Amino acid sequence: MSPGDFVPISRVFASEAPGTTVRIRGWVLRTRSSGGILFFLLRDRSGVVQVTGRRDALGDAAFDAAEHVQIEGSVAVEGVVAEDRRALDGREVRASRIDVIDAGEPFPIFTDQTEEFLLDQRHLAIRSQESVAIFRVKAELLRAFREFFDREEVVEMTPPILTGNAAEGGAEAFQFDYFGRPGYLSQTAQLYLEALLFPHERVYALTPSFRAEKSRTPRHLTEFLNLEVELAWCDFADLLIFIERMMVDVLHAVAERRPKELTSLGRPPEELLAIRAPFERIRYSEAIDRLTKLGFPVHFGSDLGTAEERALTLESKNPLFVTHYPRELKAFYMLQSRDDPRAVEAADLLGPEGYGEIIGASCRETDIARIKERITQIGAKVDEYEWYLDLRRHGNIPHAGFGLGVERVVRWVLRREHIRDTTPFPRTPSRHTP
Ligand code: 4AD
Ligand code: MG
Repeated sequence: MSPGDFVPISRVFASEAPGTTVRIRGWVLRTRSSGGILFFLLRDRSGVVQVTGRRDALGDAAFDAAEHVQIEGSVAVEGVVAEDRRALDGREVRASRIDVIDAGEPFPIFTDQTEEFLLDQRHLAIRSQESVAIFRVKAELLRAFREFFDREEVVEMTPPILTGNAAEGGAEAFQFDYFGRPGYLSQTAQLYLEALLFPHERVYALTPSFRAEKSRTPRHLTEFLNLEVELAWCDFADLLIFIERMMVDVLHAVAERRPKELTSLGRPPEELLAIRAPFERIRYSEAIDRLTKLGFPVHFGSDLGTAEERALTLESKNPLFVTHYPRELKAFYMLQSRDDPRAVEAADLLGPEGYGEIIGASCRETDIARIKERITQIGAKVDEYEWYLDLRRHGNIPHAGFGLGVERVVRWVLRREHIRDTTPFPRTPSRHTP
């Protein structure tokens, strides 16, 4: 069989009429044989189909070889498309020829294995139908974000990952030896995006961010994808409107394009289509009042952790903006609120159903003295941020931006218990292999 002849398995169900001879190839999802008939479930990138092969049609040698193919072994098949009510989606391929590409060794993954074992076998576990569905949805989500930014004339940038500053304050950065000087893995692309804003006005970057936090929670990774946007001439109201338009647009696109995967993963697409702007906005101080009524021992100045964020959105179907956090809780570059000097013009977007923070957003401080004061307060050195302060010295303008945790969004959209299921090779304090 020559390579050009193969069709994707989805064509067996879509365009190939019963009676047509097709050639397909892929990996064996399930295999069984009885009474001189072999059954494969064969998977390729486009779908899964049942293949049947009879000893009398294939010949003894080919039948015996095919019978020895293990789960996840690879084969090429030539056969006729046939209607079969018992088969998956009502059709199967009746093989006239099966070429074994690699019979494979016994596949180590089967049901009822521990989470730890499956994480050790992650390089193989990502072949599961569940993983396939998760990463197709994630890819669709990224595509929808890029399409949205394209339409909004937000330009994609490529900021560095190796840096000389620990951008968000220093405590949680991975440090390494950069030819005798300290280097850090990027915690955020924000400072670079702020620099790139002056020539481009509307920029975004999709880059990994690294956090050396030992938090073992179901929503923290040490490496995650940070989708960051920076917008010139943008005030706080504009910023929140941009974010909610983006979220509605992207969630609806994914619901329309991946209904099958969403349904199989426990998220009916209608639930995403029901999400509409505007999202509710509450001030941090109001969130504190609500939490106090719910019995949480919080006061103005308390950080909102997993439990608090969960309590605020457990009952809601729409995301929620919490705005105007106390200045001390937030990063040095956030704009001090002109109507409440204790607070910053910042918002966290909390996912519904208790999933918690998915976006961190703020207007950026434009006053150099205030930025220096905050850098000193967090115990960092002002001279390390001189290049950033230059941005306030040459054509300083109001601007705002945000970072969206891609895996956090996928976790909520796909109702995953743990964030590690939303990335193929999760990095957590206890694991950086495979
Ligand atoms: O809230 P964060 O720390 O904000 C920033 O990095 C800003 N500099 C972004 C910006 O304005 N350009 O991170 C942004 C988002 C969070 O809202 C959260 O969704 C996600 O990144 N995130 C994490 N996701 C997984 N694991 C972690 N350890 C995360 N830390 C933050
Ligand atoms: Mg945050």
